[in-house]
Amino acid sequence: MSSRGGFSSRIGFIAAAAGSAVGLGNIWGFPYEVGEGGGAIFVLIYLFFCFALCLPVMISEIAIGRSAKKNAVGAFNKLGHRNWNFIGKLGILSGVLILSFYNVIAGWAFGYVIEIGSGNFKVADDFGGFTADAFRMGVYGFFFMLATAYIVSQGISSGIEKAAKILLPLLIFMMISMVIYSLTLPDSMAGLEFYLIPDFSDVNGKVVFNAMGQAFFSLSLGMGALITYGSYLGKSENIISSAVLITLADVGIAFLAGLMIFPLIGYITGGTMENAGRGPALIFVTLPHIFGDIGGMTGIVVGTGFFLLLCFAALTSTVSLLEVPVAYLVDELRFDRKKAVWLMAGIIYLLGLPSLVGNGYSEFFTSFITYGGSDQPVDFLSFIVNVANDSFLPLGGCLIVFFASHIWKKRNLDAELAEGNPGYEGSLLQKYLKFALPYLIPLALAVIFVMTVLSTFFGIGI
Ligand code: PHE
Repeated sequence: MSSRGGFSSRIGFIAAAAGSAVGLGNIWGFPYEVGEGGGAIFVLIYLFFCFALCLPVMISEIAIGRSAKKNAVGAFNKLGHRNWNFIGKLGILSGVLILSFYNVIAGWAFGYVIEIGSGNFKVADDFGGFTADAFRMGVYGFFFMLATAYIVSQGISSGIEKAAKILLPLLIFMMISMVIYSLTLPDSMAGLEFYLIPDFSDVNGKVVFNAMGQAFFSLSLGMGALITYGSYLGKSENIISSAVLITLADVGIAFLAGLMIFPLIGYITGGTMENAGRGPALIFVTLPHIFGDIGGMTGIVVGTGFFLLLCFAALTSTVSLLEVPVAYLVDELRFDRKKAVWLMAGIIYLLGLPSLVGNGYSEFFTSFITYGGSDQPVDFLSFIVNVANDSFLPLGGCLIVFFASHIWKKRNLDAELAEGNPGYEGSLLQKYLKFALPYLIPLALAVIFVMTVLSTFFGIGI
C-alpha cells in the first residue's frame, strides 16, 4: 500500500462509498421529495434515473480515481492535462460548500437527539425558534464537525473505513426496527399505499427534475467524492459490481426511510395522508409530534433512536465530503493529513456560519437574496443548496463523464473497468456505456444543468 493509504478490502470500500451516499439525502430528502412529488410515481422515476443515468457516472468516477490514484484535482492532471483540472477544482468547491451547510443540518439532528433524549418533544413546536438559536446550533454543529474531522484524521482504513463498517450496519438495524414498529401503528397501511402505488396523473416536469437532482445528490456524484474514494481502491477489485452494490445500498436505504416514515404519517393523519408533502419540515416537525404522541419511554426511545440514526447516516457523508479537499491538500500540496483535516474542518465550519445564522438569527442571512422571479427572499443555506447541489453537481457530473469518454478516452476507461472484472469485455453493460457515456449522459446532464439554472435563478421554464 502506498503512503496515501487505502481501503483494506472491497467490502471496506463499498461500506465507505455507500456510507457517503447514504445520508440526509436519503432519510430527510427522499421521503419529503416523495411526499411532494406525489408518492410512488416519484419513486419509479427516481429508480430509473439512479440506474440509467447515475450508475454510469458513478462507474466513471471510481474508474478515474482508481486509475490515477490521485485526489479529485490530481486525477485530471494525471489522466488528461492541467487544463482539465478545473473540473476537480469545481468538485472541491462543491464539496466545501455542501459540507458547510450539511454540517448545520446534521447539527440540528444531533440537537434533537439531545432534546428528545431528555424527553423534550416540544422542540418541534417551535422548530423555527430552535434553529434560530444560533449559539446552541453553533455548539451542536461544532461537535458534529469535530466527530467528522476526528474520523478523517485517522486515515482511510482505520478512520473512514472503520467508521462506515460500524455505523452502516447499525443504521440498517435501527431502520429495520423502526419500519417494523411503524407498520404496527393504526392507519399505517394508508401510508404504505401512498408510498407504493403510483398515480401517473401526478407526473410533470418538476417531478422529473427533482427526482434527477435527488438521485444525483443522494449518490454523492458530480464532485469527486467517488474519484477520491476510488483512488484508494485496489486494482484487483471489480468496479462495476461495487458501483451496483453502492447504488443498491443507497436506493435500498432511501426506500427503507420511506417505509419507516409514510406509515407514521398514515397514523398521524388518521389514514387521510393529507399534506403528505410537508417539505423539509417533515422530519423535524411532523415526526417529533408523532413521537410525542406515542409518549412515555417508548416515545423517547423511538424518537431518540430515529435522530441518532439520522446522525449516523449524516456522519459517513460528512466524512466523505471532508476527505475530498483533504486528499487534495495531502497529495498536491504535501500537507500532513492531520494538519490538512483540522485546517479544512475549521475553514468549512466558519464558512457554514452564514447558513447557521440564516435561520432566523441574522435578518441579513435569513432574507439573503431574491431571484428566479419570486419576491420571496431566499435564506443563505437554501441559496448554497441552489448553487452547489442543484447547479454545480449536475455540471460537475456532465464534465466528469465528458472527460472520461473524450479526453481520457473511452478505451482507457474500458481497460480500467476490465481490471478485476473478466466478464466486462463484450457485456451488455459495456454496450450500454459505449453509447450512453460519450453522448447521452453528458447531454442529459447539460440539459438538466441549464434548465435548473434558468428555472431557479431566472424563473424561466419548468
Ligand atoms: N449523498 C449524501 C446524502 O445523500 C450527500 C453527499 C453529496 C455526500 C455529495 C457526498 C457528496 O446525504
